[in-house]
Amino acid sequence: MTLASSTTSAGVIGPSWALVVAAVLVSGLLLAGPALRRRYPVAWWMLLGFPAVVFRVVHTWRPLMAGCGLAVSRRPALTVVSGLVGKGTPPPQPRVPRCGLIRPTSSGFALFVRLLPGQVPEDFVKAAPAMAEGWQVHAVRVTSWKPGVVRVVASAADPLASPRVPKQRGPGHLLRVTVGVLETGAGWVLDLRRVPHWLIVGATRSGKSTLINALVAGLAPQPVALVGIDCKGGMELSLYEPRLSALATNREQAVRLLTALVDLTLDRMTVCRAARVRNIWGLPDKERPVPVVVIVDEIAELFLVASRNEKDEAQAAGTALIRLAQLGAALGVFLVVAGQRVGSDLGPGVTALRAQLGGRVCHRVADPGTAEMALGDLNPDALKAAQAITPEQAGTAVLASSDGWERARSHLITESEAEAVAAEYAHLTPVLSELHLEAP
Ligand SMILES: Nc1ncnc2c1ncn2[C@@H]1O[C@H](COP(=O)(O)OP(=O)(O)OP(=O)(O)O)[C@@H](O)[C@H]1O
Ligand SMILES: [Mg+2]
Repeated sequence: MTLASSTTSAGVIGPSWALVVAAVLVSGLLLAGPALRRRYPVAWWMLLGFPAVVFRVVHTWRPLMAGCGLAVSRRPALTVVSGLVGKGTPPPQPRVPRCGLIRPTSSGFALFVRLLPGQVPEDFVKAAPAMAEGWQVHAVRVTSWKPGVVRVVASAADPLASPRVPKQRGPGHLLRVTVGVLETGAGWVLDLRRVPHWLIVGATRSGKSTLINALVAGLAPQPVALVGIDCKGGMELSLYEPRLSALATNREQAVRLLTALVDLTLDRMTVCRAARVRNIWGLPDKERPVPVVVIVDEIAELFLVASRNEKDEAQAAGTALIRLAQLGAALGVFLVVAGQRVGSDLGPGVTALRAQLGGRVCHRVADPGTAEMALGDLNPDALKAAQAITPEQAGTAVLASSDGWERARSHLITESEAEAVAAEYAHLTPVLSELHLEAP
């Protein structure tokens, strides 16, 4: 008897206690939500954010697909038959693509969708903004995964608002630097051996020099020579002077330095030809000349002209830069060119130079023209993304690559940090005597 009653009471009390515990846990989680989100964003996302968004995706999937024109009508005959046989019951709903398994990522989610007959990935790319609105997430990106399947990736919040990727410490791989973080949460790596020449554009205070700071801070511990051309009187690049093998601070010096760099490149070409190798990487380690990274901050200062004499200098600088870009990659000379505007108004040489700078980074821009110049004829979404960057998001940029575009944000390396790194590694500065030219 006693046993029976205790079993009964346990049977009743058990589930009610479980309910109470669950309610306490859920309300505790909800109350602690904001604090949890701030301190442990990934845990918050997995416990609260992700389940809520899965519910929203599943709930809104059919109306969203239909609203975005991604539903496919059933065969008309079926509709007619259903009207006759069903005696007034509504005709069958149009087919929508099936929502694949929703998998969490550290700051969002991803799913695959199999296309219905007659659909192309572009239909889904167009629907991405509507998906972001419907699911109340920061952004949705759609990419073609394999024929007939697209991958939908959503980020719940802007991962670039407070990037969490640690800054690079130590030398790392030669000519490869993690300069910031990508929208996917991965490191933003500038690899000069893969893409040797870079164009960095952006309005004033958009983050160009900060990106250069990050690049210099990453290259300083490596066995490379850094050369600066800063015709704003050296205001930006003179910070790293102890680690620079040469620095030009006005156009006249810049022309001499660039001419010397072209000569250095031609000498290296002779060495490679004699050794019967196609580039300096084919030379034995002991004979390989040191890689030279040439950083130009504010290209317009080099090209804008007021007088006839300046025009000749600007032309000479432009020609030398184009030659360096054409020959440099194989001979270990790399270009990183930054500017607020890099348009044909700066002279005919600029367009030719721009074509040689394969890596493109577009920060916040003041006009759509500059974004177009930097990103070329990429997807119009890339141009929109570049124009949507606000002044508060300094350092955020759109990167163009052969397989599309992505957003990224540089590490905030302050001027004093950059100065300290340059001083720390000053002893590694290679002496390139051929670049130390006396004034004529
Ligand atoms: N990645 C970043 N994260 C946070 N803040 C940044 C970042 N990059 C730049 N900033 C902020 O923006 C300011 C301006 O950046 P920066 O000097 O790099 O701009 P700029 O494009 O070189 O401007 P200018 O054309 O006037 O030289 C910095 O002092 C910093 O406060
Ligand atoms: Mg600057």
